[in-house]
Amino acid sequence: MTQQGERSFGIVVLAAGLGKRMRSPLPKVLHEIAGKPLLFHILNQIRESDSHASIALVVGNGREKVESYVRSEKLFQDLKISFVVQSEQLGTGHAAKCAMESEWGNQFSGAQNSVLILPGDQPLIPSELIHQMRFPLSKSEAARLLTCERPEPAGYGRIVRRGAGGPVIRIVEDRDATEKQKQIREVSTSIYLFRGDFLRASLKRLSNNNAQKEYYLTDLIEAATRARKKVGVLKWKNQEDLLGINDPWELAQAGKILNERLLKAWALKGVTLIDPQMVYIEPSVVLHPPLVLHPGVHLRGETEIGTGAVIGPNVVLKNVVIGQHVQLQTGTVATDSQIGDHANVGPYAHLRPGSSVGTHSKIGNFVELKKTTIGSQTSVAHLSYLGDAEVGKKVNIGCGFVTCNFDGRVIEGQRKHKTIIEDEVFMGSDCQTIAPVKIGKGAYIASGSTITEDVEPGAFSIARARQVNKLGYAKRLKNSE
Ligand code: UD1
Ligand code: CA
Repeated sequence: MTQQGERSFGIVVLAAGLGKRMRSPLPKVLHEIAGKPLLFHILNQIRESDSHASIALVVGNGREKVESYVRSEKLFQDLKISFVVQSEQLGTGHAAKCAMESEWGNQFSGAQNSVLILPGDQPLIPSELIHQMRFPLSKSEAARLLTCERPEPAGYGRIVRRGAGGPVIRIVEDRDATEKQKQIREVSTSIYLFRGDFLRASLKRLSNNNAQKEYYLTDLIEAATRARKKVGVLKWKNQEDLLGINDPWELAQAGKILNERLLKAWALKGVTLIDPQMVYIEPSVVLHPPLVLHPGVHLRGETEIGTGAVIGPNVVLKNVVIGQHVQLQTGTVATDSQIGDHANVGPYAHLRPGSSVGTHSKIGNFVELKKTTIGSQTSVAHLSYLGDAEVGKKVNIGCGFVTCNFDGRVIEGQRKHKTIIEDEVFMGSDCQTIAPVKIGKGAYIASGSTITEDVEPGAFSIARARQVNKLGYAKRLKNSE
């Protein structure tokens, strides 16, 4: 069997539901796992199985937010997505009806067409499943249904067959099921392939005569049986792939499963995980093993880590590009920054957006960088703040240095002023520079200086009050009233 051609095949993704059980104002499909909305995960699997597929995304509840998210997602710019509005959430059958009666649906309503229906709230569906579901229906089939066995089927629609292992007759929703039907462990997954003409015609005839007074998509299976049409069944072995998210607990479980899948794939490529239960990673992260991740590490966004890195405990990185053989020690937090080869950062360093650390450089404990470039072989070893600064190569910044980059005024839209520290400068401990200011190459700044004016290359600069020692004066002070 081959895959269906582009023009005969369409995909409907149901994402309009209220998601009442989430108890949250955010539309259900925008809740995140592994740093991305549920809807991202399903659309991304569709993209991986066929980036040319024609997709109808049914939106309703919180639709502005859902649409604007989808439009903003870089990876989906080239997908063919039509938004279909379901203005009242009258059930999954009604959502599918809105899609089939839209302009999009008109293209897929013929006997030669088939339509794959996917729920927006099952983020672990793999692209392989989509691939297998879209094989063409045989001539006698009106639909194909995906089912799976669940040891705890509560909440899911149950698959009613004629005799054990016999053909499927219908699906009974949990709330409409008899005690006997509730024992059935084979459940409906909200994933179907329908012949276009059958789908369109039978959606028109759906009724909402059930416990929830909703139009159930599941009822189309009974409609097919009644019309004496065949329904094929694909039984999926891995029930985890089909976990539906209806409440925050299921969201948490899906997040855990996805995280574990991502970590396992990296571990098999050579990443060492000291404790896989305690490392959190997003799908967009790129690692170049071998490298080591300690417990408590969070890797987010477009983070990329080079070979030989050791990422210590409780390090949190978002959009950080790290070179080779880098050591990040306990508690380091970095965002939108870069760290060069052989650099050593932390413990407890904070790299705020726009920072860059050069190769073989050291950023020590309680050092904060913001919009600051540090050249190679430079050391900022302890207790310092550098903001809006450009620091050259082989610079030594002593303990307790501060770039005073903000004077409380806004000049020509610029709030912050720049500090330039050229190559090979020696900055003694406990210095401050009042920006804008430039320290020339190789200059030497005495400890405790507050530098307010530029320092020429090679100069020695001292800016502190001269020391006065008054002999015997201590005793007088102590005895004074
Ligand atoms: C549905 C199935 C159930 C199946 C389960 C699998 C029906 C009636 N029931 O139940 O048999 O076991 O999925 O996860 O189909 N939606 C809309 N518009 C609506 C209602 C829902 O777009 O009016 C969307 C939701 O956003 C969601 C999907 O359809 O993405 C499924 O809806 P949900 O309410 O979660 O259905 P379940 O109760 O889980
Ligand atoms: Ca659901």
